[in-house]
Amino acid sequence: MKSQPQWSNRSVFLLAAVGSAVGLGNIWKFPYIVGENGGGAFILVYLFCIALVGIPVLIAEILIGKTAQANPVSAFENLAGKFKASRFWVIFGFIGIITGFLILSFYSVVAGWALEYLAVFLQNDLAGAAPEQVKNHFADLLKSPSQLLFWHSIFMLLTILIVAKGVNQGIEKVISLAMPALFLILIILVIYASQQAGFSEALAYLFTPDFSLISTETTLIALGHAFFTLSLGMGAMMVYGSYLSKNTAVVRLSLSIALIDTLVALLAGLAIFPLIFTYGLEPSSGPSLLFISLPNALLALPFGQFFGIAFFLLLLIAALSSAISILEPVVRFVEQKTQLTRRISAWLMGIIIWLIGISALLAFNEWAEVKLFGRNIFDSLDFLTTNILLPLGGLGISLFATWVLASKSNILSSLGIGNLAYKIWYWLAAIVAPAVILMIAWNGLFIS
Ligand code: PFF
Repeated sequence: MKSQPQWSNRSVFLLAAVGSAVGLGNIWKFPYIVGENGGGAFILVYLFCIALVGIPVLIAEILIGKTAQANPVSAFENLAGKFKASRFWVIFGFIGIITGFLILSFYSVVAGWALEYLAVFLQNDLAGAAPEQVKNHFADLLKSPSQLLFWHSIFMLLTILIVAKGVNQGIEKVISLAMPALFLILIILVIYASQQAGFSEALAYLFTPDFSLISTETTLIALGHAFFTLSLGMGAMMVYGSYLSKNTAVVRLSLSIALIDTLVALLAGLAIFPLIFTYGLEPSSGPSLLFISLPNALLALPFGQFFGIAFFLLLLIAALSSAISILEPVVRFVEQKTQLTRRISAWLMGIIIWLIGISALLAFNEWAEVKLFGRNIFDSLDFLTTNILLPLGGLGISLFATWVLASKSNILSSLGIGNLAYKIWYWLAAIVAPAVILMIAWNGLFIS
């Protein structure tokens, strides 16, 4: 029987969970989907989604992990057994494990881009480049399977090495160094951005909602992103919760995680958009916002190289602290269910994910024509996980936490809240979140 690891203290758990939540989702995806969906109005809808769906599901997920003290599959298995609920719930544990494989495979490809840009800014390779050249640089990177493979491999290697070392010796150690560095860099970048001419324009863009821009589609994008950004629905928060001691109350911790994650996303917007506006670029350029528009702005600004290094280092740290949380539930599952050691489990699972990642990176070049349901492999992986699997996992998690756990045992002390707050959480997690999730799944399957 392998022993159950425990976080050294609650603050480390908080840092690790924030590390999981804050990732490419906050620094790469959030700014560009805000840009594509009209700025302030989108942010407002997103904040509602976080409050009404994200936080209740986050509490549910950490609660299940902490109560079960096991990987996502065993968590559902053990608790369903204990509370005489149907074995069918285990399916949500399996969905989580599969989702982890799929997300990390394309996540690592994008993290690889961050690594490549970090190298470029460190060597000042783009110094004096014209906007057209910067654009070509990104296009050339995407066109080169060998380059993409190189950076994807380095990123996966880093992730595997950390997870293989275990919770205390690997994840905790890296997180304790990485997260303070991340906050520091982000603050420096926001201060830098606040000195630029485009700062007030960015503020107005981010915080003056134009309600005419809110549509069903923006609402659904905001909801999907609420799941992705809070690392919900695949057992990452569950497995991190399982390393908490049984008497830790989870609601305040969950609120802190969601609050910090949201703040980081907004600060990332405040670090990026002023530069974009100062340089006279459009905020709506999509996924290449960080890889074409931002570098162009940086190259034209004073100390651009230095801040470019800071930027891509920030992106890399954010991606790495999330990637380890995506690999962890998968590895913990294998470690607990087989005779394999953690090291072997981490390498084995990491290599499988690395292989799936290769098909994701080929989607930008050799396999560009290979389409699944009308999308290339990379977009299919993103779509399937963000729009279908995470919401589905989240649905199972919030229903299980309320209908099974909360109705068959007393979880008030586990949550650490009073009766009224409990009722609000229960209502949101048992009814509101599932209803809204079903809507996203519906959209994911039939509309977009
Ligand atoms: N929350 C991460 C981000 O915003 O980049 C992504 C993520 C991590 C998704 C862990 C899912 C997960 F389980």
